[in-house]
Amino acid sequence: MQRVEKELERLIAEIDYEEVSRLFKMLSGGKRLRAKLILKIAGEHKDAPLLGAVVELIHAASLLHDDVIDEAMTRRGVASVNATDGSKTAVMLGDILYSKAFTELVAFDRDVARTIAASVTALSKGEMMDVKMAENFNTDEALYLDMLYLKTATLIEAAAKASALLVGKDAQKHALYGRNLGLSFQIIDDILDITATEEALGKPAMNDFVEGKCTLPYIYLYEELNSSDKERLLAAHAKNISKEETTWIQEKMQEYKTVEKSFELAQKLSNEAQNTMSEDIELVMILDTMIKRSF
Ligand code: FPP
Ligand code: MG
Repeated sequence: MQRVEKELERLIAEIDYEEVSRLFKMLSGGKRLRAKLILKIAGEHKDAPLLGAVVELIHAASLLHDDVIDEAMTRRGVASVNATDGSKTAVMLGDILYSKAFTELVAFDRDVARTIAASVTALSKGEMMDVKMAENFNTDEALYLDMLYLKTATLIEAAAKASALLVGKDAQKHALYGRNLGLSFQIIDDILDITATEEALGKPAMNDFVEGKCTLPYIYLYEELNSSDKERLLAAHAKNISKEETTWIQEKMQEYKTVEKSFELAQKLSNEAQNTMSEDIELVMILDTMIKRSF
């Protein structure tokens, strides 16, 4: 991973603007899941660390824009750029990181470049769907999973496929692995928003519902509730709700085991990913640590 960090440092230095270097240093790097995946699949290729850095820059850019869109004040436990330096700076920094990533991407083999580039259109589409869907209480599980696939899984799928292409491994198999890994990763993320503490998350707990996002545990809960409780849940949607309402939602989720039900789906998708890649122990282990993570 040090090779990826070195590439990131080099690319940021090439931008040659002190303000960008300062802001980039302030970002918490996060788990670097996408770059780790690329190194696991194509580590022996000389350009794998650069591809990892390109994908991490795209991911960082998307989160900068996402925090502006979601008006989020924290990211990975530190103040977001929109909180410290304002939304205009966050948008422009995102633009710089995103276009720098593409400047590097065009030098890659055509299929590799196309795979990553197309996934960015998909994730932007997913973000737009997410925002649109948060306007109302969404109860459609299939629609929710379509959006999750676009918003989170496509870049992970593309990272796995592009790195397989780089070293001549089976691209379709790796893409399927990446897709299922990405979906189950995001479902775990949605669960942690409900079950983890604010300090572990680095953002307020149960924030998704306040932002209007009806993640799987909420969709499953809605299906189970009687009509007056359905009303009560609907009334709490997309608002800064009281402690009493938060506790009520959590108790109902426990009663109907909606977090467990969501976890079962994440586990099922992870098992599918494992089955496609059973011979690659390192890729199987990524799934394991991801399912068991607590933040
Ligand atoms: C996080 O979702 C958001 C994403 C994974 C994708 C965001 C994509 C864009 C803003 C499109 C623009 C793309 C580029 C490259 C400039 P979340 O809000 O559910 O997760 P969070 O809790 O981590 O914020
Ligand atoms: Mg967000």
